[in-house]
Order: sequence, then structure tokens, then C-alpha cells
Amino acid sequence: MCGIVGYVGHRQAQEVLLDGLHRLEYRGYDSAGIVTLGKGPTLLRASGKVAELGEKVAQHGTADTVGIGHTRWATHGEPNETNAHPHQSGDIYLVHNGIIENYKELKAEMKEQHFASETDSEVLAALVHSLYDESTPLESAVGQALKLVEGTYGIAVVSVREPEKIVVARKGSPLIIGIGNGETIIASDASALLGHTDEAIYLNDGELAVCTADTVDLQNMSAQKLSPKVEKIEASMAAIQKQGYDHFLLKEIMEQPETLQSTLKGRVSPREHKAHLGGLNMTEKQLAGVEHVLIVACGTASYAGMLAAYYIERLNDKVTVQVEIASEFRYRTFHLPKKSVALIVSQSGETADTLACLREIKKRGVRTLGVVNAVGSTIAREVDGGVYVHAGPEISVASTKAFTSQVAAMVVFGIQLAQAKSTDNKAIPKYIKELWQLPAEIKKVLSVMPPQIEEIAKRYAHYDNSFYLGRDVMYPTALEGALKLKETSYVHTEGQAAGELKHGSLALVDDRFFEVMLIRDDELLDKSLSNLAEINARGGHVIVITNSDRDIDAETVIQVPTKLTLMTPLVMNVVQQLLAYYIAVARGTDVDHPRNLAKSVTVE
Ligand code: AGP
Ligand code: GLU
Repeated sequence: MCGIVGYVGHRQAQEVLLDGLHRLEYRGYDSAGIVTLGKGPTLLRASGKVAELGEKVAQHGTADTVGIGHTRWATHGEPNETNAHPHQSGDIYLVHNGIIENYKELKAEMKEQHFASETDSEVLAALVHSLYDESTPLESAVGQALKLVEGTYGIAVVSVREPEKIVVARKGSPLIIGIGNGETIIASDASALLGHTDEAIYLNDGELAVCTADTVDLQNMSAQKLSPKVEKIEASMAAIQKQGYDHFLLKEIMEQPETLQSTLKGRVSPREHKAHLGGLNMTEKQLAGVEHVLIVACGTASYAGMLAAYYIERLNDKVTVQVEIASEFRYRTFHLPKKSVALIVSQSGETADTLACLREIKKRGVRTLGVVNAVGSTIAREVDGGVYVHAGPEISVASTKAFTSQVAAMVVFGIQLAQAKSTDNKAIPKYIKELWQLPAEIKKVLSVMPPQIEEIAKRYAHYDNSFYLGRDVMYPTALEGALKLKETSYVHTEGQAAGELKHGSLALVDDRFFEVMLIRDDELLDKSLSNLAEINARGGHVIVITNSDRDIDAETVIQVPTKLTLMTPLVMNVVQQLLAYYIAVARGTDVDHPRNLAKSVTVE
């Protein structure tokens, strides 16, 4: 979802900015641009990939050492060069992530102003310019303009009149300020800072900073000085590179044994039958008093929550669990029981709808716990407590390793809750043991199954329609599998509760569709086999993914070699991650940056 970079220092700004934009490509975008100041402003923009902008930079190289850049994910005005950022107004240039909700009203008040683009962002640039006279420093003009704005923003602004500074501000869209040696680098997330510095200031909502090569002056929107908190950046360069894989998606699927291990490290001990998440900021007594767990998220994170809900319920027989899609829940008139706690699940920690829910839930005095991957992200900074899942930067738009780590972390939470309540649940040691075994079980699948799954994927890649089915814990797993295929390969896919088949979807079964059935060897096995028979009887093209060694009648059966029973969904999910990946590769889609999608949906 768009990216911002800024540089002021002693190096060629164009090179640093372009490299930063490349590192932010994974966030999703449709056009890009940079402006540098020095000899004279050099503004270059291009629709399409950052590489196309790079070609323009190669033809218009400058030695300038100050500049800002942007990858745009269009919300107002189609994705083209005219609407690409940076936007100019008089002496100033501005890049913006977010939505200026009242841009039309602001535009109407600047009748004499000519607007070249259709964007809301250009209106903000013009507003800053209209307040930027000879006696007003850039930061004052920016601060005054932002007071008139409704909506969300992460912005960086430069002026040819004050070329030694970059003014940044945020409300709802992330910005980080990297502190270098005689240089300052601004970015939407830490991946653009790696290799330049490991020290950063994470801007908070309502803050504005004036950045020069050697200084960062932080203030609030009333221009009162704040003392910046410089933090260490945890991620590494290796973590954001493909390391020999064709796509980040495959790299992130294959590294799940290691990333899951880092999620569980120090949190699960089979020897003491203990599971414990540090950072919840809750006493044992507070935990023991929890009677209702609300889980709020979007997309894959919501399916992680749905799957975790089954486990949390089964671990805690006196706790109710509710899972909500954030984009709906934030507008509901919801009531939560007194002794509730809310799990806010988000890989990026920046998803606008999830963040809005977090703020709504906090207003009701309900304790919020983050289950977040991106360190230092907005959600991680605003929850009352919580955990980082430590899956490392997830670059591919399709979330895989974060899903696995989120579910595992929430199962640990469920065990910790049960232990705080002294719940006499005989299954707790088995949950702990299976969590502990999970990385090795996933490793086993990843070491033997990819060739078989790639061959199967090639046989099914021509279908434009499919649906995924599962019962019990395999139902949210089927929802996740369907989303993976849908977003990477553009196949029309939906996930279903297998028990719902006869209530409608059976009508879809014909040669236009293939079906994926997730069948776990449990007390519902026979019911799942009946569903399978119903589809077969109507000529369905079914791929069964199962841990059962029963002889199953289906067009394709993928036997998953795992000894686990409780945590089987996370092992079988790896198979459907690979299936989606290989089908997308076979269909030639942009696997890591699917069309129209962004890694972090920071606008509503
Ligand atoms: C998942 O593969 C998708 N990229 C998308 O559904 C994603 O899970 C959703 O946007 C939530 O993102 P978050 O976890 O960063 O909040
Ligand atoms: N709303 C702005 C536009 O459409 C910025 C979108 C973004 O966050 O990239 O240009």
C-alpha cells in the first residue's frame, strides 16, 4: 500500500531513493516518482513499475543530495504519470500515503489554484503552498495545513527555498526516520533503511519532524518540541532478499520451520508442560479472570483468528471466543462482555480497518493484545500488550509464514489462559508437545512434497474457478487456502464449510470448477468422505489433501505425512500454500505483487 522514501545527506539522493522504492515495492503500488533538490528541482515520475522510473533517472541523473520518493497505490485518480507523486505546488513538493477525506472542500476554497491531477494529495500540496510565504518556515506551513485536513496521511515535503530539510508528518500511515552518519533517511517501513542504519525514530500519529542531514527536530501538531526515542531496527538485509528462490512467496513458505521456531522460542516448554507469552502486560489473576476473547483482523489474519478460536475454546471450556472481520466490526454497535480481552491480529500492524477496531475497542475500556509481525508498527505500539510473532519481514503480498506463526502464537495464548485458570484440561500437554513438534513436521512436508504438488498444480492451473472445503478446524484452513489461490493466481475461488455443500454450492459442480477438500483423520472423517462422494457423484474434479491413510476415492489425493493430530491444519496448510504458489507460477501471474493488491492495506 504505497511507499514513501526521503533522503538528506551527502550521497546521491536519486540512488538512495530508487533503492528505497525498490525495497518498498512489496507493499503494492501502481506508479512511482522522485524529486531531488540541488542544482534545480528534478522531478521524475512514471506509471507502472519502479524499474520504469529507474530508466528516467538514468537519463536525468543529478548529484543532488536531498529528495523524496513515492510508490503510489491510487485511491483518487487513476494510476498514471500525472497523478503520480511527488506533487508540486509553487516551491514545494509533497508525497502522501493515505486519504484526504475533505479534499473536495479544500479544493473549492482554492479556486485560483490550477490542479494538474485528480488526486487528493495534490490538494494538500496546494494547501501547504498557500500557507508558505517568505516569513513562514516550511514546517509551519505544513503544520498549519494539516490542521485543516481530515483523513489519514503519512507525508514528506521539501521546498526549493529550504533545500536542506525534509518535513515529515503522520496520522494513520506509518513513517520511520533512519538516523545515519551525516544523513537522514525516511521510509514507510524499516526494509528501506536496512544497510543504511540500524537506528530509527518511529513517528507517532500527530507528530511532525524537521529532518536535515544531521538533525531531527520532533514536534507535536501544536509545534511543541518532543524528545525523539531512537530505537534499534531488528530486521536484517538477508531477511528481505530472495536468497536464491524465484519468488519471495516460495522463500517465505519454505522458511516456515525456522520462522515458526522463532515464534515458539522461549514460549513453549514441553518439559515443564508450560506455554507462556511475555509482553501481555497482564497478571495471572487478570488472565484467570478473562471470560470472553474477541479476535479482530482482516484477510488471512482473520482466518488465523478463526482457526485459533477452535483451539482457544477447546483449551478453555468456560471462555467464549468471538472472531470478527475488522472492516465490518468497526461500524457495528458492538457490546462486549465485562471480562473480555481483544486479540488484534495483523502481520503488517498497519491495516487501517484493524487499527480502527483497535481504537474503538480501547475506547470501550477493553484490554487489547496485539498478535503482530512487523516490529514497531502502529498496531504494535497502540495495543495494551501483546506479542510479536517474529516471523521476520514478510515481503510477498500473500501472507504465509505470518499465518502459521499467528495461529501458533494464539494457541500458546489459549494454553496460557487455561493454565492461568488452572483449567484441568488433560489435552494441554498434547497441545504443547504438538506445537513443539510442528516446525519439524512442516519441514518434513517441505522437504519431500514440492515436486508432487508442482506436478498436480500444472494439471489444475487451467481452471478459472474452484472452491475449497473443510470441516471443523479444516474450515478456516479451507478459507485460507482459497484466499491464497485467489490472490496469487486470480482463480475465482471461495472457501466453504463442507457441511454447507448441500445448502447451495453443490450446484456449482461441473467441468468449469475444481474442488479442494481438506480431510483430517478425526471423528468427522466419514462425514467429509460423504461430502466427497456427493461431489464425485456429480463429476467433480476433487483434490483431497489429507493426513488419513484411508483409501480415498478422488481425482487427486495428496497424502500429507504427519503424525500430528491437533495441529494438523498448520501442516496441511503448507500443502495448499504450495499448491497456490505453483498454480500461480503456471498461470504466469505476478506472484509476489498480485494485481490490484497491496501488502499492507493502510487505506480503507
Ligand atoms: C493475505 O494473503 C492478504 N495479503 C491479505 O488478506 C492480508 O492478510 C490482510 O490485508 C491483512 O493484513 P495484515 O495481517 O497485515 O493486517
Ligand atoms: N490518496 C493518494 C492518491 O490517490 C495517495 C494514495 C497512496 O496512499 O498511495 O494519490
